[in-house]
Amino acid sequence: MSRPPAAWPARRKLICVFVGLVVIGGAFASLNWYSRKTQPLRTGVKTPVEKSIAVSHPSNPGYLGPQSCVKCHADRVAEFQATRHFLANQTPKSGNMPGGFSPEKGTYRVPELSLRFEMSESKRGFLETAIHQTDAGNRSTSSAIAFCYGSEGGNDEVYFAWHEDRLYELPVAWLAPSNEWGSSLFDRHGSGDFSRDMTIRCVECHNTWFQHFAGTRNRYGHDNFILGVTCEVCHGPGHEHVTFHSKNPQSKDAHAVARPAQMTRERRMDLCAQCHSNALKHRGPAFSYRPGQPLDESYVTLKPKHPEEDHVANQTTYLRQSRCFQQSDSLTCVTCHNPHQTRSETNAGSASCAKCHSNEDCTDRNQIPAEVQNNCVGCHMPEGRKIQVFFRTETDKYVAPVKRFEHRIAVYPDARNEVLLEWHRSQSGPESDEEVARLSKLLGENWRKESQRLQSESRYLAAINACRESLRFEPDPKTKEKLEQLLKIQTGIDTDLQDGLWYERNRRYEQAIEAFQRVLAAKPDHVMALGKLGTNYAVVGKKELAVESLKAAAVTDPDDPYAPGMLGWLAYLEGRSEEALQYFQQADAVEPYSAKIHYQMGLALSKLGRRDEAITQFTKAFEIDPNDVNSIREQQRLLGTGSIKEPK
Ligand code: HEC
Ligand code: HEC
Ligand code: HEC
Ligand code: HEC
Ligand code: HEC
Ligand code: HEC
Ligand code: HEC
Repeated sequence: MSRPPAAWPARRKLICVFVGLVVIGGAFASLNWYSRKTQPLRTGVKTPVEKSIAVSHPSNPGYLGPQSCVKCHADRVAEFQATRHFLANQTPKSGNMPGGFSPEKGTYRVPELSLRFEMSESKRGFLETAIHQTDAGNRSTSSAIAFCYGSEGGNDEVYFAWHEDRLYELPVAWLAPSNEWGSSLFDRHGSGDFSRDMTIRCVECHNTWFQHFAGTRNRYGHDNFILGVTCEVCHGPGHEHVTFHSKNPQSKDAHAVARPAQMTRERRMDLCAQCHSNALKHRGPAFSYRPGQPLDESYVTLKPKHPEEDHVANQTTYLRQSRCFQQSDSLTCVTCHNPHQTRSETNAGSASCAKCHSNEDCTDRNQIPAEVQNNCVGCHMPEGRKIQVFFRTETDKYVAPVKRFEHRIAVYPDARNEVLLEWHRSQSGPESDEEVARLSKLLGENWRKESQRLQSESRYLAAINACRESLRFEPDPKTKEKLEQLLKIQTGIDTDLQDGLWYERNRRYEQAIEAFQRVLAAKPDHVMALGKLGTNYAVVGKKELAVESLKAAAVTDPDDPYAPGMLGWLAYLEGRSEEALQYFQQADAVEPYSAKIHYQMGLALSKLGRRDEAITQFTKAFEIDPNDVNSIREQQRLLGTGSIKEPK
């Protein structure tokens, strides 16, 4: 659920040529939202554009909420209320908030920074207060919690607050597995308030409907939402269905409702892939996907190279890699999971394997003790930590609180060893003792080797996780040392990156360049550092180096629009409009719903004399972001004075 490189948008006006670069840079940076790291709070700092133009208020397309289904599907609604889907977003109530809000547990001190947070319950409700010690004295900002994600789910819980009509994610989260507070990484050059935008995709995946104001990062209707992942996410807006069946009580044919049982396998997969995948980049406005449609028409699905770069647990991708999926023509998520009921022994669990396999299918069955033979999941879908969601705690760094079940169903020798180890631990006798010692050593060693392999690929986060796994089995001091070393490297990378961005904001480009180079010395495939290095080279006039670095970024992560966007802009500034257009199109392919990129394509097309196509692009930009005055202005210019072509 979280992403490495966070992007801190550049905010200051820079030297001439750089103004253009920063406009792009800022835009792309803000698209890189999907990180749990913080961005400085921007409440109150409205851009002139946002001030001057009215926001558009989309109306609810017919979402009613689960209560409207009770009349005719009472049992279903009743059982559904216990599911994590129903509970995915809740308002804070004394009954669903963790012990961390008690006075004894309510403080979290951020190590190494003069910053602490206090979490409390008061007359204003549940509060998260940031107290920043500065030279001028303490500065404190208090936010009343409006929403909770993951509440009572036993993993991490994240909180949100309104500031006027903007929603922000608060920086301190509750880590239920270790019963402590944790935080995202802080920008040590941050402005003092540490929350970050609650972005559209973050809202879509945990809710049924929010009124999102088009073109804004985080403005939503204050009292116009349906919380949690409820019926209509999978069955479509219910208004027409409910109206019809209320008027026609005799009709038994389901009217105007998405019926997953009738969908093709791919559309049934899409139903869950809406959220359980890396389908992250919009092709259209918020909440416009409808069950039964191809998901690809609404989102671009990113393809990170490594599991630690996933945005969520991404069961969709891994399930597809299983022979179970590939060699069956019907297997989907709902073969094993009944989405209306909470997870249990019989809903998923090893029971789900029996739908297709007999016990004898397991060629290992006769080699393993009878007591574990039915733990199919333990050996074939082992739990592991998803390091991409990590926190800082008072005592540790890069802590991943969450474990997930591997959905690439396969044979995992070490998972088998672990199941056997657990079993031997529960036995007594010298034979089991020996096996415990042997298996612990083996597992410790294997994870240590895995850690080395990951480190050699400069995948430090994953290597940190592997070291910790190794230590679970074998508390070897050398491994501990290794872990400390890896934590230091990763901390260095994050610190250098923050420094680089700070130098850039403060126009100290040479120092920015050095900082990004330090990042790349540790991690040569750090895409953000490659991109930013390129930009800073461009600003100081080292054009060849700039292009080289940006091209490397574009190749390293084809899912990141930053580098092609910047290459396009450089080409555009130098009058190579054809080349610029190609780069902008490349950026558009991964970020199709960006007003900025459409605006830039419009500029390039306009320069190439392709007036009508340019107008189409400016209109598109304006449709995505009604606040985009630049596109409106350009469109007007091409159309001749006075007229504006309204978006469809
Ligand atoms: C006034 C009664 C009524 C209300 C309210 C109602 N439904 Fe239905 N629904 C029906 C009837 C009648 C059927 C068709 C018979 C059946 O399948 O049970 C049906 C069928 C369905 C089906 C099954 C289609 C299939 O695959 O067989 C789904 C899904 C469904 N409703 C969802 C909802 C949701 C979601 C809501 C709330 C937003 C809702 N219904 C509210 C009456 C209602
Ligand atoms: C693409 C969809 C998607 C987006 C975007 C998304 N989530 Fe989630 N989130 C999920 C899914 C799915 C789960 C369930 C666990 C899993 O399968 O990864 C989840 C689980 C969680 C949990 C429960 C604890 C846990 O880890 O299981 C929290 C808290 C959470 N997300 C916070 C966030 C926040 C904060 C954001 C926005 C910054 C966000 N999520 C964005 C899909 C998403
Ligand atoms: C996460 C997705 C999801 C959510 C949320 C969801 N459903 Fe379903 N629903 C499905 C799927 C998938 C099927 C088809 C199951 C199958 O093929 O066996 C289904 C089938 C149905 C059916 C028809 C078949 C049956 O089992 O009766 C009804 C009625 C229904 N859902 C109503 C509801 C209602 C009411 C809610 C909310 C209380 C709801 N659903 C929430 C995914 C969902
Ligand atoms: C709109 C987004 C969304 C859709 C669509 C969706 N999920 Fe989820 N799912 C989530 C989130 C978010 C969570 C985690 C909620 C939490 O723990 O707070 C979750 C949790 C789960 C869990 C864990 C439940 C548990 O008890 O731990 C399962 C299993 C699951 N989803 C299966 C499915 C399946 C199967 C489908 C498709 C039929 C589906 N989901 C569709 C967002 C979604
Ligand atoms: C072959 C059966 C099977 C299929 C297919 C399957 N799952 Fe699971 N899933 C499981 C089992 C087993 C567990 C973990 C043990 C349990 O609670 O039953 C699990 C756990 C989960 C969880 C809980 C979070 C975690 O990992 O801790 C989520 C979310 C989930 N599955 C989502 C999905 C989605 C989305 C799909 C489709 C892409 C899917 N599953 C397909 C069997 C399956
Ligand atoms: C929809 C049917 C279906 C379900 C449900 C299912 N499988 Fe499979 N599975 C298959 C098919 C088909 C194959 C490939 C043929 C074979 O090896 O038997 C397979 C293959 C496998 C393999 C061999 C994988 C490899 O890479 O060699 C394992 C292990 C396995 N399944 C375990 C499981 C477990 C554990 C579960 C429950 C969590 C499960 N399966 C659920 C259909 C299914
Ligand atoms: C203690 C670990 C363990 C447990 C428990 C276990 N398996 Fe296996 N399973 C294995 C191993 C190891 C193999 C590969 C053995 C080999 O290479 O011959 C295997 C092989 C398989 C295969 C693939 C056979 C092939 O075609 O290559 C299937 C299918 C399978 N298991 C299903 C299951 C099911 C279903 C269960 C639960 C009833 C289960 N397993 C329980 C460890 C386990």
